Amino acid sequence: MKPESPILLFDSGVGGLSILPAVREALPGAPLIYAADFAGLPYGGKTEAEIAARVCGLLGRLSERYQPRLICIACNTASTIALSMVRDVLETPIVGTVPAIKPAAKLTRTGTFGILGTEATIRQAYVDDLEREHAGGKTMLRHAAPDLVMLAEAKLRDEHISVDAVANACTGLSLQQGGRDIDVVVLACTHFPLLRGELQEAFGKDVTLIDGAQGIARRIAALSDGQKFASGRPDRMVMTGGATLPKPLVETLKTYGLDQIDRI
Ligand code: DGL
Repeated sequence: MKPESPILLFDSGVGGLSILPAVREALPGAPLIYAADFAGLPYGGKTEAEIAARVCGLLGRLSERYQPRLICIACNTASTIALSMVRDVLETPIVGTVPAIKPAAKLTRTGTFGILGTEATIRQAYVDDLEREHAGGKTMLRHAAPDLVMLAEAKLRDEHISVDAVANACTGLSLQQGGRDIDVVVLACTHFPLLRGELQEAFGKDVTLIDGAQGIARRIAALSDGQKFASGRPDRMVMTGGATLPKPLVETLKTYGLDQIDRI
């Protein structure tokens, strides 16, 4: 493997940026490519077949073009639906983004925790399996909060996001029977940690918010153990779609070290 071979992070939009800093911290010398399927955003309202086709097709094209050493599907929706299919067709090691149900079940003191995700994620059998395996004897309440995806996208475009809008998107979680007992909330969509401050205000300081970024970074570091890294070119974003990115988003991407934008 070439030392310049990058780690590729993939999401429907900017959500995977909530994972990128943890990966950089774990592997400071690793060349990174961040791929955003803006033309397909949002994934949460699509069917399983649509998501699987997009993710498998795009990751195939991206692999051919960039020859990554490892791919991280930095998207819960894509991972819970397409992870095993992508692993079947690509030889590259693939790290998925699994909702942090196991740590949430360990952490809850009340025995009731919530999970916020996209519509597509929360209905997956993958999530049922995690609940059965790790949350026995606990109550796990699910809520789809698709509006949070576009609020996170807007925030990174430097638009004003109100805590009320964030709270409204989540209110269905606490309104469920037993919802007032929730003391831990799993952020099961990579866009949501980008709104951590607003979400913490919306839920209040007694609720712990958890996501999988650190665990994913540790997994990537473990799979890359002993490999050589050399950063030959600047880290970049690769995007689908023809739209010109607004200037504030281009500036935000630079703060994540993504200084160049390619299109696929
Ligand atoms: N960031 C994605 C996730 O983790 C999906 C957002 C979307 O495209 O709906 O689920």
